[in-house]
Amino acid sequence: MIITNFKTYESATGDAALALAMIHDKVAKETGADIRIAVQAADLYRIAQAVSIPVYAQHIDPVGFGSNTGHILPEAVEAAGAKGTLLNHSERRLERDVIQKSIERAKELGLEVVLCAQDPEEGASFVDLDPTLIAVEPPELIGGDISVSTAQPEIVSDAAKLINDKCLVGAGVKNGADVKKSLELGAKGVLLASGVTKASDPEEVLLDLVSGLS
Ligand code: G3P
Repeated sequence: MIITNFKTYESATGDAALALAMIHDKVAKETGADIRIAVQAADLYRIAQAVSIPVYAQHIDPVGFGSNTGHILPEAVEAAGAKGTLLNHSERRLERDVIQKSIERAKELGLEVVLCAQDPEEGASFVDLDPTLIAVEPPELIGGDISVSTAQPEIVSDAAKLINDKCLVGAGVKNGADVKKSLELGAKGVLLASGVTKASDPEEVLLDLVSGLS
């Protein structure tokens, strides 16, 4: 599977986010590939209404209905049409007890959780929390030009060994060759951002990424 994290890129915010989401939807329909997107909370409802692919929030807070100003309520994310959420991304790190409570809240609502880890060992330490998927992304390679599968293939193979069929990898993934190598090293899919969000032709990039799945 391929998950694009829209982060807060200008090209993936507001109207541009909707347009980018629709490109992902189109490529998924045309190719049959498992493509998912993680969008900003403010864009979630509109995008989830417009596409058929799974849409994730980028974060939830482990709160319930009530007095929690400024928090992202899991029920609101679910009601907005999200299939799940990212959690503990390198740019939004959480304490373990918060991760655990957030996963519990997500499960109460049937939301999937893609839990991020900075290295294979941290990923392995999250297995017992039972998230849907665990995405290992070395922080120093995030946003860079060299894919984790090229720069540090041992990270991908170690992660796959420790996390098994829940293992995604990310950081620097840009093309179909990066996806192919990640899968060959044992990952089940990739999580990426800038390769798509900064592309002048995201559709072309997505088609190339999808070619690496087969
Ligand atoms: O969540 C995906 C991410 O952190 C990787 O970013 O830009 O290296 O694909 P990027």
